[in-house]
Amino acid sequence: MSQPRKLSVLMVCLGNICRSPTAQGVLEARLKLAGLQDKVTVDSAGTAAWHTGKAPDPRSQQVALQRGYNLSHLRARQATREDFDHFDYVLAMDEDNLNDLRVLEPAHYQGELSLFLDYAFPNQKRSVPDPYYTQGDKGFHEVVDLIENASDGLIKVLKQRLEV
Ligand code: 4NP
Repeated sequence: MSQPRKLSVLMVCLGNICRSPTAQGVLEARLKLAGLQDKVTVDSAGTAAWHTGKAPDPRSQQVALQRGYNLSHLRARQATREDFDHFDYVLAMDEDNLNDLRVLEPAHYQGELSLFLDYAFPNQKRSVPDPYYTQGDKGFHEVVDLIENASDGLIKVLKQRLEV
């Protein structure tokens, strides 16, 4: 099979204001470092619509910026069934998000719907803990740590598929 010209990744959490926009920003930055920014497109969405149109949570933005990732341009939206027509990878931050996405997933979907942390910790079913109701910024740093780790694992897989 010939290699794909371009790949696409959708990061999904519950609200699309903490974990998945962080995952989008971190993956985009690391793809750029790897010279793959023109070969992989990245977006994010939430399984819930509560925060549609909002920028990422100020705590996520602040911690991400401290770590070198600017999330200020991102805006929340809800994941839809049509997303499966457009994304090769639909990656859930936790098991609840994954179960909600399985309900939306069309039977004919040929891409990969899985937990994002499978790319850092294969077969462990690990989730990115939801930091929204936590105090301080520790939980938000932990989110970035986990996401950086899984982004690097995902980029290895994407490079293999793109044969670069
Ligand atoms: P996220 O975090 O799913 O990582 O964006 C949350 C954001 C908002 C809420 C829950 C989780 N909320 O209940 O409004």
